[in-house]
Amino acid sequence: MMARIFSGIQPSGELHIGNYLGAVKNWVQLQHQFESYFCVVNYHAITAAYDPPELQRRTHEMAVGLLAAGVDPSKATLFLQSQVPEHTELAWIFNTITPLGELERQVAFKEKAAKQEQVMAGLLNYPVLQAADILLYLAELVPVGEDQVQHLELSRVIARNWNARFSPEPPYFPEPQPRLTHTRRIVGLDGQSKMSKSLGNTIGILEEPESIWEKLRPAVTDPARQRKTDKGEPTKCPVIYPLHQAFSPEATVHEVETNCRQAKWGCIDCKKSLLTNIVNELTPIRERARDLQSNPARVTETLEAGAAKARVVASKTIRHVKEKMGLPLASNGG
Ligand code: AMP
Ligand code: TRP
Repeated sequence: MMARIFSGIQPSGELHIGNYLGAVKNWVQLQHQFESYFCVVNYHAITAAYDPPELQRRTHEMAVGLLAAGVDPSKATLFLQSQVPEHTELAWIFNTITPLGELERQVAFKEKAAKQEQVMAGLLNYPVLQAADILLYLAELVPVGEDQVQHLELSRVIARNWNARFSPEPPYFPEPQPRLTHTRRIVGLDGQSKMSKSLGNTIGILEEPESIWEKLRPAVTDPARQRKTDKGEPTKCPVIYPLHQAFSPEATVHEVETNCRQAKWGCIDCKKSLLTNIVNELTPIRERARDLQSNPARVTETLEAGAAKARVVASKTIRHVKEKMGLPLASNGG
Protein backbone atom coordinates (compact mmCIF):
# COMPACT_ATOMS: atom_id res chain seq x y z
CA MET A 1 0.00 0.00 0.00
CA MET A 2 1.21 3.49 -0.84
CA ALA A 3 2.08 5.51 2.28
CA ARG A 4 -0.32 8.32 3.10
CA ILE A 5 0.38 12.01 3.51
CA PHE A 6 -1.91 14.69 4.87
CA SER A 7 -1.63 18.45 5.01
CA GLY A 8 -3.89 21.39 5.72
CA ILE A 9 -4.01 25.06 4.97
CA GLN A 10 -6.11 27.82 6.45
CA PRO A 11 -8.60 29.56 4.14
CA SER A 12 -6.85 32.90 4.38
CA GLY A 13 -7.88 33.75 0.79
CA GLU A 14 -5.15 33.91 -1.77
CA LEU A 15 -2.11 31.64 -1.42
CA HIS A 16 1.08 33.64 -0.93
CA ILE A 17 4.60 32.67 -1.92
CA GLY A 18 5.37 31.79 1.73
CA ASN A 19 2.84 29.00 2.07
CA TYR A 20 3.33 28.12 -1.60
CA LEU A 21 7.10 27.57 -1.21
CA GLY A 22 6.91 26.24 2.35
CA ALA A 23 4.20 23.69 1.73
CA VAL A 24 1.98 23.68 -1.34
CA LYS A 25 4.72 23.32 -3.95
CA ASN A 26 5.85 20.27 -2.02
CA TRP A 27 2.29 18.88 -2.00
CA VAL A 28 2.23 19.12 -5.79
CA GLN A 29 5.42 17.07 -6.04
CA LEU A 30 4.51 14.52 -3.37
CA GLN A 31 1.02 13.79 -4.77
CA HIS A 32 2.76 11.62 -7.39
CA GLN A 33 4.49 9.44 -4.80
CA PHE A 34 1.97 9.17 -1.96
CA GLU A 35 -1.72 8.68 -1.35
CA SER A 36 -2.37 12.34 -0.60
CA TYR A 37 -5.04 14.18 1.37
CA PHE A 38 -5.06 17.99 1.28
CA CYS A 39 -7.57 19.93 3.31
CA VAL A 40 -8.70 23.55 3.55
CA VAL A 41 -9.09 23.80 7.32
CA ASN A 42 -12.08 26.08 7.77
CA TYR A 43 -12.78 24.79 11.31
CA HIS A 44 -9.33 25.99 12.30
CA ALA A 45 -10.05 29.36 10.70
CA ILE A 46 -13.03 30.03 12.95
CA THR A 47 -10.79 30.13 16.02
CA ALA A 48 -10.06 33.75 14.99
CA ALA A 49 -12.70 36.49 14.61
CA TYR A 50 -14.31 36.27 11.16
CA ASP A 51 -17.16 37.30 8.94
CA PRO A 52 -19.17 34.29 7.60
CA PRO A 53 -19.63 35.39 3.94
CA GLU A 54 -15.99 36.48 3.86
CA LEU A 55 -14.86 33.08 5.19
CA GLN A 56 -16.87 31.35 2.51
CA ARG A 57 -15.33 33.53 -0.20
CA ARG A 58 -11.82 32.95 1.09
CA THR A 59 -12.36 29.22 1.36
CA HIS A 60 -13.36 29.05 -2.29
CA GLU A 61 -10.47 31.28 -3.27
CA MET A 62 -8.00 29.07 -1.42
CA ALA A 63 -9.33 26.02 -3.24
CA VAL A 64 -8.89 27.85 -6.55
CA GLY A 65 -5.32 28.74 -5.57
CA LEU A 66 -4.45 25.15 -4.65
CA LEU A 67 -5.87 23.74 -7.87
CA ALA A 68 -4.14 26.45 -9.90
CA ALA A 69 -0.85 25.75 -8.10
CA GLY A 70 -1.04 22.16 -9.33
CA VAL A 71 -2.94 20.08 -6.79
CA ASP A 72 -4.48 17.51 -9.13
CA PRO A 73 -7.80 16.02 -8.00
CA SER A 74 -7.14 12.92 -10.09
CA LYS A 75 -4.02 12.27 -7.97
CA ALA A 76 -4.79 13.80 -4.56
CA THR A 77 -7.94 14.15 -2.47
CA LEU A 78 -8.64 17.87 -1.98
CA PHE A 79 -11.49 18.78 0.36
CA LEU A 80 -12.95 21.15 2.94
CA GLN A 81 -12.63 20.20 6.60
CA SER A 82 -16.22 21.17 7.42
CA GLN A 83 -17.50 18.68 4.82
CA VAL A 84 -15.98 15.71 6.69
CA PRO A 85 -17.57 15.67 10.16
CA GLU A 86 -15.26 12.90 11.41
CA HIS A 87 -12.54 15.56 11.91
CA THR A 88 -14.38 17.19 14.79
CA GLU A 89 -15.56 13.85 16.13
CA LEU A 90 -11.98 12.57 16.47
CA ALA A 91 -10.86 15.96 17.83
CA TRP A 92 -13.28 15.58 20.75
CA ILE A 93 -11.96 12.12 21.46
CA PHE A 94 -8.37 13.38 21.36
CA ASN A 95 -9.25 16.22 23.74
CA THR A 96 -9.82 13.59 26.39
CA ILE A 97 -6.24 12.25 26.17
CA THR A 98 -4.32 15.50 25.60
CA PRO A 99 -2.62 17.00 28.66
CA LEU A 100 -3.56 20.65 29.17
CA GLY A 101 0.08 21.59 29.74
CA GLU A 102 1.02 20.40 26.24
CA LEU A 103 -1.54 22.79 24.76
CA GLU A 104 -0.57 25.73 26.95
CA ARG A 105 3.07 25.55 25.91
CA GLN A 106 2.41 25.71 22.16
CA VAL A 107 4.16 28.80 20.81
CA ALA A 108 1.45 29.46 18.20
CA PHE A 109 -1.17 29.45 20.96
CA LYS A 110 0.81 31.77 23.22
CA GLU A 111 1.39 34.24 20.37
CA LYS A 112 -2.25 34.32 19.32
CA ALA A 113 -3.62 34.35 22.88
CA ALA A 114 -1.39 37.30 23.82
CA LYS A 115 -3.23 39.42 21.23
CA GLN A 116 -6.71 38.61 22.54
CA GLU A 117 -8.77 40.01 25.35
CA GLN A 118 -10.72 36.83 25.86
CA VAL A 119 -9.17 33.52 24.80
CA MET A 120 -11.62 30.89 23.60
CA ALA A 121 -11.20 27.16 24.25
CA GLY A 122 -11.10 26.52 20.48
CA LEU A 123 -7.84 28.43 20.19
CA LEU A 124 -6.22 26.31 22.87
CA ASN A 125 -7.57 23.12 21.31
CA TYR A 126 -6.55 24.07 17.77
CA PRO A 127 -3.64 21.57 17.66
CA VAL A 128 -5.92 18.76 18.88
CA LEU A 129 -8.07 19.25 15.79
CA GLN A 130 -4.87 19.32 13.73
CA ALA A 131 -3.82 15.95 15.19
CA ALA A 132 -7.29 14.60 14.35
CA ASP A 133 -6.95 15.87 10.74
CA ILE A 134 -3.74 13.94 10.26
CA LEU A 135 -4.47 10.78 12.23
CA LEU A 136 -7.92 10.28 10.74
CA TYR A 137 -6.08 9.29 7.54
CA LEU A 138 -3.34 7.35 9.44
CA ALA A 139 -0.92 9.67 7.63
CA GLU A 140 2.77 9.17 8.29
CA LEU A 141 4.14 12.28 6.62
CA VAL A 142 2.94 15.86 6.79
CA PRO A 143 4.39 18.34 4.30
CA VAL A 144 4.41 21.68 6.14
CA GLY A 145 6.57 24.73 6.82
CA GLU A 146 8.81 25.05 9.86
CA ASP A 147 6.19 26.86 11.96
CA GLN A 148 4.17 23.62 12.20
CA VAL A 149 6.90 21.44 13.69
CA GLN A 150 5.76 21.93 17.29
CA HIS A 151 2.16 21.12 16.38
CA LEU A 152 3.36 17.88 14.82
CA GLU A 153 5.32 16.96 17.91
CA LEU A 154 2.05 17.24 19.77
CA SER A 155 0.30 15.08 17.16
CA ARG A 156 2.84 12.38 17.97
CA VAL A 157 2.19 12.73 21.70
CA ILE A 158 -1.54 12.37 21.02
CA ALA A 159 -1.01 9.30 18.81
CA ARG A 160 1.22 7.75 21.48
CA ASN A 161 -1.21 8.48 24.32
CA TRP A 162 -4.17 7.09 22.45
CA ASN A 163 -2.27 3.97 21.35
CA ALA A 164 -0.98 3.35 24.89
CA ARG A 165 -4.49 3.53 26.31
CA PHE A 166 -6.56 1.80 23.62
CA SER A 167 -4.38 -0.09 21.13
CA PRO A 168 -0.84 -0.74 22.33
CA GLU A 169 -0.02 -3.84 20.25
CA PRO A 170 0.08 -3.22 17.41
CA PRO A 171 -0.11 0.58 17.78
CA TYR A 172 -3.11 1.77 15.75
CA PHE A 173 -2.03 5.31 14.90
CA PRO A 174 1.32 6.06 13.24
CA GLU A 175 3.43 8.89 14.68
CA PRO A 176 3.37 11.49 11.90
CA GLN A 177 6.58 13.26 10.88
CA PRO A 178 6.94 16.67 9.27
CA ARG A 179 8.28 16.77 5.73
CA LEU A 180 10.06 20.10 5.34
CA THR A 181 11.54 21.75 2.25
CA HIS A 182 14.59 23.96 1.74
CA THR A 183 12.16 26.88 1.77
CA ARG A 184 10.69 25.94 5.14
CA ARG A 185 10.53 29.56 6.36
CA ILE A 186 10.00 32.40 3.92
CA VAL A 187 10.52 35.85 5.40
CA GLY A 188 7.99 38.56 4.59
CA LEU A 189 8.72 41.71 2.59
CA ASP A 190 9.52 43.56 5.82
CA GLY A 191 12.63 41.34 6.06
CA GLN A 192 11.81 40.44 9.66
CA SER A 193 8.78 38.27 10.34
CA LYS A 194 7.63 35.14 8.55
CA MET A 195 5.57 35.90 5.46
CA SER A 196 1.97 35.82 6.63
CA LYS A 197 -1.34 37.18 5.42
CA SER A 198 -2.13 38.56 8.87
CA LEU A 199 1.07 40.65 8.84
CA GLY A 200 0.41 42.13 5.38
CA ASN A 201 3.95 41.33 4.20
CA THR A 202 3.06 38.88 1.43
CA ILE A 203 3.29 38.44 -2.32
CA GLY A 204 0.23 36.56 -3.55
CA ILE A 205 0.72 33.80 -6.10
CA LEU A 206 -2.00 35.35 -8.27
CA GLU A 207 -0.62 38.90 -8.19
CA GLU A 208 0.06 40.69 -11.46
CA PRO A 209 3.73 41.35 -12.32
CA GLU A 210 3.31 45.14 -11.85
CA SER A 211 1.98 44.66 -8.36
CA ILE A 212 4.79 42.22 -7.47
CA TRP A 213 7.31 44.80 -8.70
CA GLU A 214 5.75 47.51 -6.53
CA LYS A 215 6.49 45.27 -3.55
CA LEU A 216 9.97 44.08 -4.53
CA ARG A 217 11.31 47.52 -5.50
CA PRO A 218 11.32 48.99 -1.95
CA ALA A 219 12.21 45.71 -0.17
CA VAL A 220 15.14 45.89 2.26
CA THR A 221 18.51 44.43 1.16
CA ASP A 222 21.96 44.09 2.76
CA PRO A 223 22.35 47.38 4.70
CA ALA A 224 26.00 47.56 3.53
CA ARG A 225 24.76 48.36 0.02
CA GLN A 226 23.92 52.03 0.37
CA ARG A 227 25.18 52.92 -3.13
CA LYS A 228 25.35 50.80 -6.26
CA THR A 229 29.16 50.69 -5.92
CA ASP A 230 29.08 49.30 -2.34
CA LYS A 231 29.90 45.62 -2.18
CA GLY A 232 27.37 43.38 -0.43
CA GLU A 233 26.94 39.93 1.04
CA PRO A 234 23.94 37.97 -0.31
CA THR A 235 23.48 36.03 2.93
CA LYS A 236 22.79 39.36 4.67
CA CYS A 237 20.04 40.18 2.17
CA PRO A 238 16.93 38.99 4.04
CA VAL A 239 14.30 38.93 1.29
CA ILE A 240 15.65 39.11 -2.25
CA TYR A 241 18.47 36.54 -2.04
CA PRO A 242 16.35 33.78 -0.43
CA LEU A 243 13.68 34.39 -3.06
CA HIS A 244 16.29 34.07 -5.81
CA GLN A 245 17.26 30.73 -4.27
CA ALA A 246 13.63 29.67 -4.39
CA PHE A 247 12.64 30.95 -7.84
CA SER A 248 15.76 31.41 -9.98
CA PRO A 249 17.83 28.83 -11.85
CA GLU A 250 21.08 27.86 -10.16
CA ALA A 251 23.19 29.79 -12.70
CA THR A 252 21.29 32.97 -11.84
CA VAL A 253 21.75 32.39 -8.12
CA HIS A 254 25.55 32.17 -8.70
CA GLU A 255 25.42 35.30 -10.83
CA VAL A 256 23.57 37.10 -8.03
CA GLU A 257 26.19 36.04 -5.48
CA THR A 258 29.13 37.23 -7.62
CA ASN A 259 27.49 40.43 -8.79
CA CYS A 260 26.45 41.40 -5.27
CA ARG A 261 29.84 40.67 -3.71
CA GLN A 262 31.67 42.55 -6.49
CA ALA A 263 29.07 45.33 -6.75
CA LYS A 264 28.56 44.58 -10.45
CA TRP A 265 24.81 44.81 -10.01
CA GLY A 266 22.80 47.32 -8.06
CA CYS A 267 19.99 45.96 -5.91
CA ILE A 268 17.48 47.13 -8.51
CA ASP A 269 19.17 45.00 -11.19
CA CYS A 270 19.05 42.05 -8.84
CA LYS A 271 15.37 42.66 -8.07
CA LYS A 272 14.51 42.91 -11.78
CA SER A 273 16.12 39.54 -12.38
CA LEU A 274 14.15 38.09 -9.47
CA LEU A 275 10.91 39.56 -10.81
CA THR A 276 11.46 37.82 -14.15
CA ASN A 277 11.92 34.46 -12.46
CA ILE A 278 8.97 34.85 -10.11
CA VAL A 279 6.74 35.87 -13.01
CA ASN A 280 7.94 32.88 -15.07
CA GLU A 281 6.82 30.51 -12.34
CA LEU A 282 3.59 32.26 -11.41
CA THR A 283 2.20 33.13 -14.85
CA PRO A 284 0.88 29.64 -15.66
CA ILE A 285 -0.64 29.44 -12.16
CA ARG A 286 -2.39 32.79 -12.65
CA GLU A 287 -3.76 31.63 -15.99
CA ARG A 288 -5.12 28.39 -14.54
CA ALA A 289 -6.69 30.36 -11.69
CA ARG A 290 -8.47 32.65 -14.14
CA ASP A 291 -9.93 29.61 -15.82
CA LEU A 292 -11.11 28.14 -12.50
CA GLN A 293 -12.54 31.47 -11.35
CA SER A 294 -14.76 31.53 -14.42
CA ASN A 295 -16.31 28.22 -13.34
CA PRO A 296 -16.99 28.27 -9.58
CA ALA A 297 -19.43 25.35 -9.79
CA ARG A 298 -16.66 23.09 -11.08
CA VAL A 299 -14.49 23.95 -8.08
CA THR A 300 -17.37 23.28 -5.68
CA GLU A 301 -18.01 19.90 -7.32
CA THR A 302 -14.33 18.98 -7.09
CA LEU A 303 -14.36 19.74 -3.37
CA GLU A 304 -17.54 17.75 -2.78
CA ALA A 305 -16.13 14.76 -4.63
CA GLY A 306 -12.95 15.10 -2.54
CA ALA A 307 -14.96 15.13 0.70
CA ALA A 308 -16.84 11.99 -0.36
CA LYS A 309 -13.51 10.21 -1.00
CA ALA A 310 -12.03 11.46 2.27
CA ARG A 311 -15.07 10.24 4.21
CA VAL A 312 -14.54 6.66 3.06
CA VAL A 313 -11.21 6.60 4.92
CA ALA A 314 -12.27 8.89 7.78
CA SER A 315 -15.38 6.87 8.67
CA LYS A 316 -13.37 3.65 8.74
CA THR A 317 -10.90 5.16 11.22
CA ILE A 318 -13.70 6.49 13.42
CA ARG A 319 -15.35 3.07 13.40
CA HIS A 320 -12.14 1.40 14.59
CA VAL A 321 -11.53 4.10 17.21
CA LYS A 322 -15.05 3.89 18.64
CA GLU A 323 -14.96 0.11 18.71
CA LYS A 324 -11.72 0.15 20.70
CA MET A 325 -13.04 2.80 23.09
CA GLY A 326 -16.34 1.16 23.98
CA LEU A 327 -18.41 3.78 22.13
CA PRO A 328 -21.40 2.29 20.24
CA LEU A 329 -21.72 3.27 16.58
CA ALA A 330 -24.84 4.76 15.01
CA SER A 331 -27.02 2.23 13.16
CA ASN A 332 -25.73 3.58 9.81
CA GLY A 333 -22.20 2.71 10.94
CA GLY A 334 -21.16 6.27 11.81
P1 AMP B 1 -1.16 28.68 6.64
O1 AMP B 1 -1.30 29.50 5.42
O2 AMP B 1 -0.66 29.45 7.83
O3 AMP B 1 -2.34 27.80 6.93
O4 AMP B 1 0.03 27.66 6.34
C1 AMP B 1 -0.08 26.64 5.38
C2 AMP B 1 1.23 25.93 5.22
O5 AMP B 1 2.23 26.83 4.72
C3 AMP B 1 1.81 25.38 6.51
O6 AMP B 1 2.45 24.15 6.21
C4 AMP B 1 2.81 26.41 6.94
O7 AMP B 1 3.87 25.86 7.69
C5 AMP B 1 3.32 26.90 5.59
N1 AMP B 1 3.74 28.32 5.66
C6 AMP B 1 2.95 29.39 5.95
N2 AMP B 1 3.66 30.53 5.92
C7 AMP B 1 4.93 30.18 5.59
C8 AMP B 1 6.15 30.90 5.39
N3 AMP B 1 6.21 32.22 5.52
N4 AMP B 1 7.26 30.19 5.06
C9 AMP B 1 7.22 28.84 4.91
N5 AMP B 1 6.11 28.11 5.07
C10 AMP B 1 4.97 28.75 5.40
N1 TRP C 1 -2.06 24.70 11.57
C1 TRP C 1 -1.74 24.65 10.16
C2 TRP C 1 -1.28 26.06 9.71
O1 TRP C 1 -1.65 27.03 10.28
C3 TRP C 1 -2.91 24.23 9.33
C4 TRP C 1 -3.30 22.80 9.57
C5 TRP C 1 -4.46 22.36 10.16
C6 TRP C 1 -2.57 21.63 9.23
N2 TRP C 1 -4.51 21.01 10.18
C7 TRP C 1 -3.36 20.52 9.63
C8 TRP C 1 -1.33 21.43 8.65
C9 TRP C 1 -2.91 19.22 9.47
C10 TRP C 1 -0.88 20.10 8.48
C11 TRP C 1 -1.67 19.00 8.89
O2 TRP C 1 -0.59 26.16 8.76
